[in-house]
Amino acid sequence: MQEVSIFSKMAQLSQAYNAVNLGQGYPNFDCDDRLKSLVIKYLNEGKNQYAPMAGVPELRTSIAQKLLKSYDIDVDPHTEITITSGATQAIFTIINAMVRKGDEVIVMEPAYDSYVPSIKAAGGMPKVYEMEAPHFKIDWNVIKKLISAQTKMIIINSPHNPTGSVLTKDDLKELELLIAERDIFILSDEVYEHLIYDGVVHQSVLKYPEIRAKAFAVFSFGKTFHNTGWKMGYAVAPEMLSQKLRNLHQWNVFSVNSFIQYALAEYLKMSNTYDGLSTFYEKKRDYLLDTLDDLPFKKTKSQGTYFQLYDFSDYSQENDLDFSEWLVKEHGVATIPISPFYSSDRTCQHVRFCFAKTEVVIDQAASRLSHL
Ligand SMILES: Cc1ncc(COP(=O)(O)O)c(C=O)c1O
Repeated sequence: MQEVSIFSKMAQLSQAYNAVNLGQGYPNFDCDDRLKSLVIKYLNEGKNQYAPMAGVPELRTSIAQKLLKSYDIDVDPHTEITITSGATQAIFTIINAMVRKGDEVIVMEPAYDSYVPSIKAAGGMPKVYEMEAPHFKIDWNVIKKLISAQTKMIIINSPHNPTGSVLTKDDLKELELLIAERDIFILSDEVYEHLIYDGVVHQSVLKYPEIRAKAFAVFSFGKTFHNTGWKMGYAVAPEMLSQKLRNLHQWNVFSVNSFIQYALAEYLKMSNTYDGLSTFYEKKRDYLLDTLDDLPFKKTKSQGTYFQLYDFSDYSQENDLDFSEWLVKEHGVATIPISPFYSSDRTCQHVRFCFAKTEVVIDQAASRLSHL
C-alpha cells in the first residue's frame, strides 16, 4: 500500500484540528472570470471531442507567441510544443520516454515529489544532490562529480519548490558547460516561471541555445492562472525530443481536455492575464513576511514560487515532521515540513508556508501563531 503523502497527512490534520491551512500548495482564491467564461463558451460550442494528440493548434500557436514575448525565442508550435495534463504528466512522460533501465538521473533535493518515483518507474537510478539551507545553492563542481557514463538526464527546477530559490545566469552557464560534449538531457521544471520577485529575471533553459538543444522545459497553466485543478500544462522541446515525448504521450493520455485548450488559446491573447503576476505574488510574500515578522523563526526571503520557508531551530530542537504536527495540533496552523522533499531520511528544521492565500487567511494564521 502506498504510504500517505505528507500533503495528504497535513491536509487531514488541518481538517481534524480546524486549522488555518498554509500547507496546501495552491491558491485559496479563484481564477479570472474571463477565463471561466471562455471555458463555458467552448463547452457550449461543442468542443467536447478528442483534441489532436499534441494539443489543439490554436493553443500551441498562442503558447509560441507567449514564449516569443516572454523569452524572445522562436518555437515551432507544430513540432516543439506538446499540451499535457499538467506539468506532472509532462514530467512522468518525458522521464519514461527518455530513461531506460540502469540510466542515472541527477536530481537536486529537496525536490518536487514526482521526480524520483517517475525515474524509478522508468527503471532509472536517481543520483541525488542535496542542497543545503539557508540558500539552497547548487555546487556545480559536486554535480560534475556525480556525472558518470550512465548519466542520462539532469532535472532542474527554478523557481524552486519548496525553497523559493532561483537559478541565476551563472548557474545556467555552468550547466551549459557541464553538458557540452556529453549526451545528457535536461528536464527543466519551470512551472513557477512568472512567480519571481524583487526584479529578478527567470532564466528559462529556452534562452540558452546549447541547453535548449538538449532540453525539455515544462510549464503549468495551473500555477500561472490560479486553476491547479484543471491540470493543464505543456512541454517545449526540440522536434526530435518532442517526438520521443509524443510517442509515449499518445499511449499515456493520448490528448487532454479540449474545451479548456480552446479557452486558454483565446485567453492567452488577452491583456493582463499573467503580466502582473510577479507583483501580485510579491505583495503576498511581503504581506506574509511582515505579518509573521515577530515569529521566533529565521528565514531567507523567497525569491520565487508561492512558498516561504521558516527555520525554527532557534525555537525548538524537534524535527520538522514533529514540529509541523505540533503546530497544527496546538496552534491550529498547517504547514509542510521539508524533510519529505529529500529521499534520504535526514532530519530538517524548516517548514514551508504557502502565501497563495488571501490576507484574511494570513492574518488568521498570524493571530494563532502570535502565542509562540
Ligand atoms: C515544482 C513543481 N513542478 C510541477 C508541479 C505540478 O504541476 P501541475 O499541477 O501542472 O501538474 C508542481 C506542483 O506543485 C510543482 O511544485
